[in-house]
Amino acid sequence: MTIHISARPGDIADTVLMPGDPLRARWAAEQFLDAPRCINETRGMLGYTGTWRGHRVTIHGSGMGMASLSIYANELIRDFGVRTLIRIGSCGGMQPHVKLRDVILAMTASAVSTPSSTILRELNFAPCADWTLLAAAAGAADARGIAPHVGGIYSSDTFYDERPDLNEEMTRHGILAVEMETAELYTLAARHGARALSVLTVSDHLQTGEALDSTARETGFADMVEIALAAAFP
Ligand code: ADE
Repeated sequence: MTIHISARPGDIADTVLMPGDPLRARWAAEQFLDAPRCINETRGMLGYTGTWRGHRVTIHGSGMGMASLSIYANELIRDFGVRTLIRIGSCGGMQPHVKLRDVILAMTASAVSTPSSTILRELNFAPCADWTLLAAAAGAADARGIAPHVGGIYSSDTFYDERPDLNEEMTRHGILAVEMETAELYTLAARHGARALSVLTVSDHLQTGEALDSTARETGFADMVEIALAAAFP
């Protein structure tokens, strides 16, 4: 039991899927896991453990933003011994060829700062995905007829962004999309010798202003859960 996760030792699997939204964690556990059991509801941040094709897996919310994800990922890795963390979430497209509903596998995550900046200080650390998870996720997406974009994303500290020039620089440097969690997830995984990957669906587009409705978001979310599970247990 930790400050933010009221689970007992052994309640949490080695592999954790992390949607931002705790209600998505519950939905995914009910849809995809056998015998899901709620192992956390502190502050409404729901976590469930069950099995998928015989493999033990936990699906636990991260909340929005790197500060929130950092709390849960730290406790999952350091106190519950989690070794594999796969974020499943949404992002905003930043390139013309990246369309709504497209799946992005985040190879790297740039950021202005992360919660880890305080310890990294002047170092411009390059947070990157675990290669075996990334390759397995690309294969799992292909097997489902989904052609993912694989490349760099940007982890922002703000959803309501007032720096259009910064977004333009990201676009000019080939960044595929913006979200708010991955740079810290990859940094924590690197620090603690764990594996991490972010599988994202484009829910809105910074250049066109388009956004998915809630039904399309749900379909995209189901695809991400399947890709993440298949990548974790190839
Ligand atoms: N997550 C989904 N869309 C986003 C956006 N436009 N900015 C930041 N995070 C997001």
